[in-house]
Amino acid sequence: MSRVLGLAASGAGGVEDLLPRLIKPAQEGGWTVAVTLTPTAGRWLAETGQLDEIEQATGYPVRVEPRSPSQKSPHPAPSCYLVAPASANFVAKMSLGIADNQALTQVNEAIGTLNLPVIVFPRVNAAHARQPFWTMHIENLKRVGVDLLYGDDVWPLHEPRSAPGRDLPWSAMLDAIEKAVPADR
Ligand SMILES: Cc1cc2nc3c(=O)[nH]c(=O)nc-3n(C[C@H](O)[C@H](O)[C@H](O)COP(=O)(O)O)c2cc1C
Repeated sequence: MSRVLGLAASGAGGVEDLLPRLIKPAQEGGWTVAVTLTPTAGRWLAETGQLDEIEQATGYPVRVEPRSPSQKSPHPAPSCYLVAPASANFVAKMSLGIADNQALTQVNEAIGTLNLPVIVFPRVNAAHARQPFWTMHIENLKRVGVDLLYGDDVWPLHEPRSAPGRDLPWSAMLDAIEKAVPADR
């Protein structure tokens, strides 16, 4: 199989653009994409019909709920994980190893899997980043080798509500997955 991108997304701005801006371009670059959403993101995209569109485009069910023990995992084994957009909540839980939904379960396991790159784009604002534990979460993830797409060059922080509708750094995400797993590897 081609390179497999495990894409985990949470309830943050820009999740509604995943299909045209990330999934389709990745597929055009030769990636197979399998998507898992947090319950919040799953509800948002189900309400707009995009969850079905992602399933049609990727050919895989969008995972939101954990499977039953009798069911097989519906996704192929990933070559790389991308968490985008990652809410402040998702980043905090990842940093602590909390796995209380399917997306966190997969991403936490990915962090513990040898030779499986994990890339995270925290879609946060200045208030999220001022929360007193935020720096600890970022440092925790860096320390364990997570590739963070974070900083003024990627996503300048802004005050809540001051910059709604900003375009996410899609090309930085696509570049990061290419760098993590080059096509000719
Ligand atoms: C319209 C809307 C947009 C939101 N955008 C963001 C965001 O960009 N970043 C963020 O950290 N939280 C954002 N939130 C808050 C998260 O959705 C909330 O913390 C939620 O509990 C995240 O759950 P999840 O991480 O399990 O998806 C937003 C909430 C709403 C209602």
